[in-house]
Amino acid sequence: MVIQKICCIGAGYVGGPTCSVMALKCPDIEITVVDLSKDRIAQWNSNEKLPIFEPGLMEIVQQCRGRNLFFSTDIVSAIRKADLIFISVNTPTKTFGMGKGRAADLKYVEGAARMIAENAEGNKIVVEKSTVPVRAAESIMNILKANNKPNSSYQILSNPEFLAEGTAVQDLLHADRVLIGGEETAEGQEAVRQLSWVYEHWIPSSKVVTMNTWSSELSKLAANAFLAQRISSINSLSAVCEATGADVSEVARAVGLDTRIGPKFLQASVGFGGSCFQKDILNLVYICECLNLPHVAAYWQQVIDMNEYQKSRFAEKVVSSLFNTVTDKRIAVLGFAFKKNTGDTRESPAIYVSTHLLAEGAHLHIYDPKVEPHQIVDDLNSSTMDPDIVNRNVVIHSDAYSATKNTHALIVCTEWDEFVTLDYEKIYADMMKPAYIFDGRKILDHDFLQNLGFHVQTIGKKMHRDVARAWGCQNHQM
Ligand SMILES: NC(=O)c1ccc[n+]([C@@H]2O[C@H](COP(=O)([O-])OP(=O)(O)OC[C@H]3O[C@@H](n4cnc5c(N)ncnc54)[C@H](O)[C@@H]3O)[C@@H](O)[C@H]2O)c1
Repeated sequence: MVIQKICCIGAGYVGGPTCSVMALKCPDIEITVVDLSKDRIAQWNSNEKLPIFEPGLMEIVQQCRGRNLFFSTDIVSAIRKADLIFISVNTPTKTFGMGKGRAADLKYVEGAARMIAENAEGNKIVVEKSTVPVRAAESIMNILKANNKPNSSYQILSNPEFLAEGTAVQDLLHADRVLIGGEETAEGQEAVRQLSWVYEHWIPSSKVVTMNTWSSELSKLAANAFLAQRISSINSLSAVCEATGADVSEVARAVGLDTRIGPKFLQASVGFGGSCFQKDILNLVYICECLNLPHVAAYWQQVIDMNEYQKSRFAEKVVSSLFNTVTDKRIAVLGFAFKKNTGDTRESPAIYVSTHLLAEGAHLHIYDPKVEPHQIVDDLNSSTMDPDIVNRNVVIHSDAYSATKNTHALIVCTEWDEFVTLDYEKIYADMMKPAYIFDGRKILDHDFLQNLGFHVQTIGKKMHRDVARAWGCQNHQM
């Protein structure tokens, strides 16, 4: 079999960019990305705005769409004609029942598998691209086999995706590695070869790593757990720095210069967010508990606990610095996405910080360059569970200057580049005094800001001058 047609079920943050880059690099393959959501598919077919923001993505979509890249809601036809089918649907944390709050909810994966079972004919390679628990491929195979038509056969592969939002296009074009797990049978190995051939259109074969299916599934969870662990490790030290006078940036630099450790993912911050780290570690913890490995489960749970601690420590620092009350104070929140260069807010620390401040009675003025206003409102509504608070106490702005005007404090929650180059002199002039900046991403020039008159607080560094000034200012207007 030579793969001529690919179907991808799920047109989200993974399915869309992955298939767009694949279509760009494999002009000999026709790729159809399908989704249950009509709105999402309409946006993928639009020239104005794609459903997700990723630098460089629109150009690739415009180049390939209608040539060998198609977005459609006709899932049945796409499954029927495909030689290879990616399952790239969401696998969120379960919100009810057994494993609630920890296990991955596989209902969307199961739904996709059932659609394949009902509609596929002939030989198909089915590829798990979604992040799933170890041995999920077995469940998919059970569904497919139980509904097997006489003239159909399947090979299941695991091919987890390692792209990071905000750099998805570059990550896909220049992947560190492509992982493919398959069965050790002759048919399984042939399917692995077929998928390798697709990637080898642009990825050097030395970077296409093959292994058994369960290793591949676990490697994805392990990779995310390791990345998040580094962030929690440096964040834990940021608390020590604040208590002692050490500077976490200096510590991170010293530690990262060791070639055995390396410098990446050692930036202390308000905490990690995103749809994957927390969900995948919780999933790993749940798997360990089910395997009766409580010590391993407890070990990885600490990575999540440390992240929660960091977010709450930061939010509490805002309140305590503002004279222990933010009731009726106006606070600007700059950045709502979980990281720069994406409009995704899933598990964003900004949601936690904003919710904490709203509960304390603050009025929030929020600005993010890429997050849609309705998304901010939806996130805060579901997190505060009180639409009245959001209606009354939240204003969404379309630029940083109007968001910060007349506020008592400004909080940087996302490391957008544009926040570094704002005119802070103007912002200072337009803010209430004393004016506070809480830099949750460590992107600003703190000395410069202090010289302008700001009281500056950040992560992992004691701001000596600010402590002195803050106490000296207790009688100022609040
Ligand atoms: N977002 C990331 O950065 C990232 C990175 C690597 C891996 N992953 C993993 O990839 C998977 C997908 O993540 P995502 O962020 O793209 O999710 P997403 O929520 O953005 O997209 C999933 C899409 O699947 C669609 N869908 C669900 N069931 C369907 C069905 N039966 N038929 C057709 N469409 C269906 C949904 O409508 C949705 O549009 C997850 O398992 C995730 O953990 C995500």
